Amino acid sequence: MKNFVLKGDLCWSRDPQHLESRKNGYLVCENGVSAGVYETLPEKYSAYPLLDYAGKLILPGFTDLHAHAPQYRYRALGMDLELLEWLDTHTFPQEALYQDTAHARKNYARFVEEMRKGPNTRGCIFGTIHRESTEILMELLEESGLAAMVGKVNMDRHSPDILREGTEESAEETIRWIQEVQGKYPHVTPILTPRFLPSCTDALLEKLGKIQKKFHIPVQSHLSENRSEVAWVQELFPQSKNYGDAYDHFGLFGGENCPTIMAHCVLSDDAEIALMKERGVFIAHCPESNTNLASGIAPVRRYLSEEIPMGLGSDIAGGTRCSLFYAMAEAIRVSKLRWRLVDDRLAPLTIPEAFYLATKGGGAFFGKVGSFEEGYLLDAFVLDDSRYDNIGEYTIAERLERAIYLSEDNEVCHKFVEGRQLF
Ligand code: GUN
Ligand code: FE
Repeated sequence: MKNFVLKGDLCWSRDPQHLESRKNGYLVCENGVSAGVYETLPEKYSAYPLLDYAGKLILPGFTDLHAHAPQYRYRALGMDLELLEWLDTHTFPQEALYQDTAHARKNYARFVEEMRKGPNTRGCIFGTIHRESTEILMELLEESGLAAMVGKVNMDRHSPDILREGTEESAEETIRWIQEVQGKYPHVTPILTPRFLPSCTDALLEKLGKIQKKFHIPVQSHLSENRSEVAWVQELFPQSKNYGDAYDHFGLFGGENCPTIMAHCVLSDDAEIALMKERGVFIAHCPESNTNLASGIAPVRRYLSEEIPMGLGSDIAGGTRCSLFYAMAEAIRVSKLRWRLVDDRLAPLTIPEAFYLATKGGGAFFGKVGSFEEGYLLDAFVLDDSRYDNIGEYTIAERLERAIYLSEDNEVCHKFVEGRQLF
């Protein structure tokens, strides 16, 4: 079905400050793209099938800008550790298991199913260093109907033998992987994924910079997440002005031909922030992970006021929940603590801002995604919020606020990605 109309209580974001809503409105889908929201259905659309979800909320699908599919299996373990110990103790041994494609297929299917049934319609997702398993993850995501960018991870140092590639091997496997998957799937595409700077030698980063230029694929990685990590990067790259500058040296830090997402940015200094802004680097703000691993609280208010592109990430398994409703509530909570305890010049996030980040903010990495404005890809889900007992009593903005704090995945009753109905 390419053309249809959704009817219900619609809410979407135009900019971080403003929620748009239309009670009992009509959202028109033409060829997978929004043809706008209407109070009364224009005559020219009257022949389109009408999906009537009266009384339910209809929201743009969420974009999870940062998650690790192989970590889904051990989420909520090791939360008494900080980043570097947590990676050594839990992450690296678990990711090594994805050498086995049968293990990968079984466990990636569980992650994909969790994502499919919740409110997220897209994600930028890390696999592991293993090419074949990463290809299985891509195949499963495409089959699910979700849209995603997926990365085969690069690591050639500072990890156990079972999860480390040779420098040449890492580059060659990456090229082979890109050649195998580029253009293969309509909704799942490759993204270059050096794990973080401590995992990659200069020689590998140099090769990845060349691969990026040759194949024109975007980049995702981690930036300035944890104090020990940032100090370690300074030791490993003594010439660089900051962590971001070290990526930039290899051509892996944004710019017109290199769309880039950096997760966390908890500890970025002024120069690093200025460079992100200049290069249009997207920040994936991962509040739950930053609390669980005691990394800190990113200055999200500052990033918003400097207009640095930004969205939210679950950072499974630094975070425990795939649903970005949870990330929105966490983003608001930690911003209040930061404001109260760290810097009272940076006001807490508001509900419209958190909603913007989960929808249009992160969606922008995929183009016109994350809003119901005309011309946006039609990613949407229908939420049955009747459990909260508020039909007829609350405004749509209030119902959204309650959904952010209260919703469960089983209240997502229908979902659309680029106009295709998943359920
Ligand atoms: N930095 C490098 N690898 C990881 C990871 O798997 N998770 C998080 N949160 N940070 C990282
Ligand atoms: Fe991460």
